[in-house]
Amino acid sequence: MITKYIFGDPVETGAVTAAVEDVSGVARFQVERDKGGIAFRLPLGARDVVYGLGETMGRVNKRGGRYISFNTDTADHEDSNPSLYASHNFLVVDGEAAFGAFFDTPARVVFEIDYQGSGEIYVHCDTQDLRLYQIESDTALGVCRELIAAVGRCYLPPLWAFGYGQSRFGYAAPEDFRKVADGYQKNSLPLDYICMDIDYMEGYRDFSFNQKNFPDIGAFVSEMGSRGIRLVPIVDAGIKVEPGEAVYEEGVRGGYFCRNKEGGFFKAGVWPGMTHFPDFLNTRAREWFGGLYKFYTDAGIEGFWNDMNEPAIFYSEYAKGLKNPLYQLILGMLPGKRRKEKKARELLRDYKSFFHDMDGRRLRHYDVHNLFGAMMTRATSEGLERLLDHRFMLFSRSSYIGANRYGGVWTGDNSSKWEHLRLNVRHMPSLNMCGFLYSGADTGGFGGNCTRELLLRWLAFSVFTPLMRNHTSKFTQNQEAYSFGDVEDFRTVLRLRYRLLPYIYSEYMKAALTADMYIKPLSFVYPEARGIEDQLLVGDSLMIAPVVIEGALSRRVYIPEDMTEVRYNGEFTCRPVSKGEYTVEVGLSEVVFYIRPGKLLPIGKIISNTREYDVSDLTLLGDGETYELYTDDGLTRDCTLENIRVLRK
Ligand code: GLC
Repeated sequence: MITKYIFGDPVETGAVTAAVEDVSGVARFQVERDKGGIAFRLPLGARDVVYGLGETMGRVNKRGGRYISFNTDTADHEDSNPSLYASHNFLVVDGEAAFGAFFDTPARVVFEIDYQGSGEIYVHCDTQDLRLYQIESDTALGVCRELIAAVGRCYLPPLWAFGYGQSRFGYAAPEDFRKVADGYQKNSLPLDYICMDIDYMEGYRDFSFNQKNFPDIGAFVSEMGSRGIRLVPIVDAGIKVEPGEAVYEEGVRGGYFCRNKEGGFFKAGVWPGMTHFPDFLNTRAREWFGGLYKFYTDAGIEGFWNDMNEPAIFYSEYAKGLKNPLYQLILGMLPGKRRKEKKARELLRDYKSFFHDMDGRRLRHYDVHNLFGAMMTRATSEGLERLLDHRFMLFSRSSYIGANRYGGVWTGDNSSKWEHLRLNVRHMPSLNMCGFLYSGADTGGFGGNCTRELLLRWLAFSVFTPLMRNHTSKFTQNQEAYSFGDVEDFRTVLRLRYRLLPYIYSEYMKAALTADMYIKPLSFVYPEARGIEDQLLVGDSLMIAPVVIEGALSRRVYIPEDMTEVRYNGEFTCRPVSKGEYTVEVGLSEVVFYIRPGKLLPIGKIISNTREYDVSDLTLLGDGETYELYTDDGLTRDCTLENIRVLRK
């Protein structure tokens, strides 16, 4: 059961689309108002587990931590960092009964969950105006399903978006993309798309292609398309201030940009230099921005990643002297912590210095900050819906609950560290709890140099995440799957992804169409496994136990009930395993996972691309009797449960 409590005069975030009854009073929380906003308190039972918060640091069980919803461009994915790129203000308390709370406000929110042993949940919203949704259910999974249903139907990517993609900050010219395509195809490594990072642009301007490199982008899209590879360009939030340029001029004429304190258009320095931010909270500006993607769709492009939409600001018009090299030098010499604090202070000043026109309501950016990226995703998604007659790929860096109706997310600038592989494993169930099914991390890590072993283990996990993209930064060593000597092991793991696609695609589509999670913590089905956060349930049939420790050739695996162990090393080997706990050997050239009792796993043939996707002759592994396969042409918008075919063993 879901109920809504309204405080003050909240901004319409659009997060919840279902009709939910308003109730007065607040059943669960003790409420305290202060000058800065409203605080909510709730005592916790000693054994209660607290889930939720989507893309945050910390464990899957949020107890003991302090987290701040304030969307931030940060490569600092460490536990001391309270804010990442997204705000997912949803908590689930799993105790004697299960209970959930979604604090629906785009303002800054602080969560302290049994922080320093307080024994309570303390939530402080930096506003007097919000909606609070409370959900009562029998189980934590039930609570999450209610929230996901209330938010509305999750984004449905095309089939090819479940393929494997390669990306790198630095690919610039057609030769770079051809080299990647050759590297994969000559080595018989499957690949579906290559991402184009900002170097495809002219002067880092959105909606432009470097003229020297791409005089005829349509021809290049066709060339790659004929090899079965799609191009997925990045689009940043800011529009370069450049008089004479059509997009800039249109934005100025239409008044589509956020305004500064003086009433002009706010200027923020990002990749292209000074930019204006489209006012994504304004319906007309959203329509305008979404329509701009015609530039790409006309060239045959149907996949995008939206970036820098927290929004990231390197410096602003109010940061006098910041572009002065001497100032930069002094800034660079300040110790890390002080530099960070200074940067944070400047960002706060900037976020308080510009304004939105939410269809007649003037709002200070700071007060609605966490909605910006979500509304960019919405603008893009609605634009693409108008421009195309079928499904498209879209994922964003910044998000807010509800944005999952419009696109997916990736978890930003992680590093090639084992801890960040483990963070990826923890993020996936937490993101799914908040409805973000189409998600994944930069496989192999964005910053730093990845080792062969780390990439193999990371890929072996990403095999199960809907978004499976290898991405790295400009200044790192090559990270493509063919860059580490012998490709055989990489071939095995990438082929496994494609052989599992009938399952991954079916489970994703069924979860999205029935308001369910695709990846769940083990404890959502096996409550005794509450402490185990490095094993996950993927879809309805599988349990995974990825190897996430450097140098490990085996790991402990908890088997909560009798299951079928599947070992893939080019061939599938199945054997029954009984309930219990075991040390399981997992060599670098194999992937091991488990089929739950009474369930089946459909397996396809080896393919090199989703163009060869074929479900006419699937093998069924496991001891179940039937499997519900979701099939369509991978592009249609007509996605219903009627597209399910029952396969029998
Ligand atoms: C940001 C993105 C990263 C991208 C880079 C350059 O750091 O998070 O993925 O490669 O910008 O566009």
